[in-house]
Amino acid sequence: MILALETSCDDTCAAVVTADGDVRANVISSQGIHDAFGGVVPEVASRHHLELVNVVVDDALRTAEVTWDDIGLIAVTQGPGLVGALLVGVATAKGLAAARTLPLAGIDHLQGHVAANFLRDGGPPLEPPFLCLIASGGHTFLARVDDHTSFTVLGQTLDDAAGEAFDKGARLLGLPFPGGPHLERLARAGDPAAFAFPTADGVKDLDFSFAGLKTALLYKVRDLGDDEAAARRADLAASFQHAVVEQLARRTARALERTGLERLAIGGGVAANGPLRERMASLVPAVHVPARALCTDNAAMIASAARFVEPVPYPHYLGLEAYATGEHAL
Ligand code: KG4
Ligand code: ZN
Repeated sequence: MILALETSCDDTCAAVVTADGDVRANVISSQGIHDAFGGVVPEVASRHHLELVNVVVDDALRTAEVTWDDIGLIAVTQGPGLVGALLVGVATAKGLAAARTLPLAGIDHLQGHVAANFLRDGGPPLEPPFLCLIASGGHTFLARVDDHTSFTVLGQTLDDAAGEAFDKGARLLGLPFPGGPHLERLARAGDPAAFAFPTADGVKDLDFSFAGLKTALLYKVRDLGDDEAAARRADLAASFQHAVVEQLARRTARALERTGLERLAIGGGVAANGPLRERMASLVPAVHVPARALCTDNAAMIASAARFVEPVPYPHYLGLEAYATGEHAL
């Protein structure tokens, strides 16, 4: 069994996964504290990870109904992410592994998102090759996945991540953080064709850009004036969402065409978006979307990636360091 830790941002996560990809426990403790600030405060996140990490590990072992004797490997997110937050996970993982002379695997967070597709998740895992779109609050990229241990980035955002765009758009419409789910709910009562927001078609190739969209919404709200903007909030939300979804879908369609890949997986928090799922379903016969708890930041995906790498034996990982930006840093 693999015990994995993930502390790259504001969620303190621990999971227990079997060597063949069954998720026995996937514990996620979200630090709601950041919502009051309208975003994640790195120093606050690190302190909370420190308070929560041991509790979350114990909870994962208890939920999985296993003891330390059942654990043969510890995995941890090494980066990219908030370095202070990552350090809590890395130091904890080293300590837990060293105390039991277990091997350790340092895992790339983005490889983890890709590896969420390799878990048995009520159905069979997705086998490479496939195209993978990851869209979350921190990253947005399209990757070609040819094997279980690596991926090739085909396109990435040049500015904001798609989730960040949803959060900023939601804030302009007076919705609470994180705004994606609130904006989706508000948009249900609106007309996606009410306003024509930009889809960044001029951006090169398979890259994304959401900064112009956010500015377009800002100007539209300003032009309408307070009363009219308030009266048309649902239309604004629906049109904004439509623009994000269209941009993601058009780039994905282009990537499918260019690579000749026939299978598509989507992940990251934005994959929870209903209209995005519907639009993606129009591109391929079946879109692979892991369960919501495996799409957002979680430790089961880190354990999944660890199944395919050569772990470092004790004590050679004691110098292992967290990295804020990595090989695949986007
Ligand atoms: O992967 P995730 O849980 O965390 C990090 O990025 O760290 O993604 C969170 C992001 C937020 O920006 C949130 O607004 C967005 O995913 N999100 C959504 C929806 N649910 C979450 N965006 C659009 N529609 C949703 N239903
Ligand atoms: Zn993530």
